[in-house]
This record gives sequence, C-alpha cells and structure tokens, in this order.
Amino acid sequence: SGKKLIVLGSVNVDHILNVNEFPKPGETLAGKNYQISFGGKGANQAVAAGRLGANIQFIAAVGDDELGKKIHQQLKRDNIDTRSVATIKNENTGVALILVNAQGENQIAIYAGANAMVTPDYLREFENDIIQADAILMQLETPLATIEQSAKIAKQYNTQVILNPAPAQQLSDDLLNNIDIITPNETEAEHLTGIKIVTEQDAQTASDILHNKGIKIVIITLGSKGAWVSDSGKGELIRGFKVKAIDTIGAGDTFNGMLVTALLEGKSLSQAIKYAHAAGALSVTKIGAQTSVPTRTEVDNFIKLPNQ
Ligand code: RIB
Ligand code: NA
Repeated sequence: SGKKLIVLGSVNVDHILNVNEFPKPGETLAGKNYQISFGGKGANQAVAAGRLGANIQFIAAVGDDELGKKIHQQLKRDNIDTRSVATIKNENTGVALILVNAQGENQIAIYAGANAMVTPDYLREFENDIIQADAILMQLETPLATIEQSAKIAKQYNTQVILNPAPAQQLSDDLLNNIDIITPNETEAEHLTGIKIVTEQDAQTASDILHNKGIKIVIITLGSKGAWVSDSGKGELIRGFKVKAIDTIGAGDTFNGMLVTALLEGKSLSQAIKYAHAAGALSVTKIGAQTSVPTRTEVDNFIKLPNQ
C-alpha cells in the first residue's frame, strides 16, 4: 500500500572481522568476532525501507550460490518485492571483506560478483516499473551506466530520483542533472565538489555547487553531528541523536532507507531527516548492517522520548 519505491543497488555478503589495529602490508594479525552477515548498500537500503514501512521493489542480482538463495528469501521476509532480483548462473553473490579496528573505523574491499550483471540491458525489463514508481533510490555499487540510464528514465517520467553517492566517485553532469535529492557524507561531498567540509559555510558552498548541477535537495551527512540540509540553496544543520556507537556499518544505509520512506509518507523534509537520524542512530547500537535496522515501532518510540 502507499506510494511506490524502487531501490536499485548491490547485494553483498559481508565478512566482518574485528582487529585491534589494521594489519600493515605483509603483516598477519589475529582478529576476533568473525561474522558473516547480509549487506551491500542496495540491499541494506531496501531492507531498511521495507522494514520501516515502504512499499518497495528491489532491482538487483545475486549469484547462484547458497547465500544468494538465503538472501533472496530474507529480502522477501522484509516485505520487499523481489521479482526484479535476478539469480545469475555461474556467478558469486557480491562480497565485502570488512575489518573493524578498536576505534570502530573500518576498511572494506569489495568483489562485485553478480552486482556487475545489473546492466542497462537487464534494466530494460523493469523500465516500466521505474516509470510507474513514485521514487527510486540508488547508490554507487552497481554499474554506473545502469544508474545513469535509470535516472534518465525516472526523470523523464517524474519518478523522484534519490542518489546516495557511496562509495565516493566522480559523477557526470548528465547524471547529476537527473537527480532530485543527493545524500553524500563529507568525503563523498568533497569528491563531488572539491570542497573539503570543515565549517557550515563549506557545507553550504558544496551544496550550492550541487544545486548548480540541477539537484534541488542536498543532504550532507556529518556523522554524529547530524546533517547539513539544503533545499534550493537554503541550508540548515539538522542535529542527530546521541547514542553509544557499537558498529556504524550500514548506518548510512538505514538513514537513506528511512529518509525516503518518510518522504513518501508525506512528511516534511526536516521531519523526514529527524526520522532518518533516529533510525540511523538506533542502527549503530547493534552489530552488522541489515541485522541492525530497527523496526518502525522502535523508531517511533525513540522519537517520542522526552530527551530527544
Ligand atoms: O554501507 C555498508 C555496506 O557497504 C556493507 O554492507 C558492505 O556490503 C558495503 O557494501
Ligand atoms: Na550497525
């Protein structure tokens, strides 16, 4: 029910290992708390949106391996329409090797696997779904040509385009011009604009550069500080919630999934950011990406707490 969201993006199996410090080249270190969990920016955002109440269809691909099958089933349990999640023969599901150090920082290496098969050709089958949807949410772990193509179709048919430009990459003016809402973190904003974000003025300068490329709403996430939110050149800092951080993997994805879900419910931009901050904050209090996405009830109750 409700407005329809499409998430187009990656599926990864995350192999997460905690280490005291990152190994240096040539060095071998013992880690602890090894765990395998389901991740990938696309799947994380799809799961967040599905669990938090959106009517969502996911365009993605998994390999024909055991974990790919399990991920497919889990996506269904999270209320996601998976008819556009392909199983690719003789290919592995995407993989992310993640090291987390004692400070909670991470290093990630990715093998695209089946994600590389989300091609413009594959997309053609689902162009009608994009045309009929109210919004499409994408990231940068699937082939850029596909993202460019779907943004173009979406823009043409008034489907709102939200891009979380992660991991950091330079993007063409053509793609930026087809985006309605962009949600970089500080590093990604610097990649896109050349502006190193230290002050609020820097955040507005970077936002203005992106507005000039044709993007109406720029949301620069600033970690625990909150987010710089600029709507058509009018920017403000919207603060986040303070929580005890256990693991930040997937926090940005939960933020994006909740943001778009709240906007499709008709919430104002600043209200939607507040919900997104709450969901993101709750997710850093638990380990893993999809395992840490809160329920909608948890988010609603958290927002109602008197000290928020
Ligand atoms: O944003 C977090 C995600 O980035 C992880 O789940 C991992 O798969 C990497 O893609
Ligand atoms: Na987490």
